[in-house]
Amino acid sequence: MEQQESATFSLRPATEDDLPALVALEQAIQVAPWNAEHFRAELQKPFSQVLVLTDDETDSVLIGYAVFWRVGDEVHLLNVGVALEHRGQGFGKLLVRRVLAFASRENAKKIWLEVRKSNLAAVGLYQGLGFAICQIRKQFYSNGEDAYVLEHRVDGNTSDF
Ligand SMILES: CC(C)(COP(=O)(O)OP(=O)(O)OC[C@H]1O[C@@H](n2cnc3c(N)ncnc32)[C@H](O)[C@@H]1OP(=O)(O)O)[C@@H](O)C(=O)NCCC(=O)NCCS
Repeated sequence: MEQQESATFSLRPATEDDLPALVALEQAIQVAPWNAEHFRAELQKPFSQVLVLTDDETDSVLIGYAVFWRVGDEVHLLNVGVALEHRGQGFGKLLVRRVLAFASRENAKKIWLEVRKSNLAAVGLYQGLGFAICQIRKQFYSNGEDAYVLEHRVDGNTSDF
């Protein structure tokens, strides 16, 4: 449980009941938002995790979410988002740290993701947590934008996160 001023928040695995709120938040904050089918498919994949950060009062109002895969000896972070009204309060960092801690516990060798080059907030968030740009994928997105591939080596020391 995380505490912020008087409100408390918890991170838990998403369920089918969270789909409407997840889709609404995704629509509000992402350039190319996932729909309910995207999220439902992730809930069904055995190697995928969808975590939601909710306020404890309702356990259903979403502050943020993270979607990631454990594949081979890697963790692939596919999606992270924080509601506009909760930005700049450390929730993005909290979500990514949780994924880093998971990767460490699972003895993954690295965690990686793709992000739009123009997404300065996300690039800043990842670099601040020790991710490094290891590749540029030219015209990766449907609007022609390049992607950065960012990577973080994992050494099994969760206390770093
Ligand atoms: C990226 C995102 C998750 C950050 O969430 P957040 O809760 O506001 O982030 P935090 O408050 O934890 O900030 C962590 C770091 O991110 C960086 N950051 C956050 N907002 C930023 C901004 N507007 N400009 C530059 N850097 C920013 C900073 O380095 C910050 O660290 P600092 O506070 O020590 O300076 C949020 O902006 C978001 O949901 N964006 C839309 C979805 C998205 O682009 N997801 C990532 C791609 S999959």
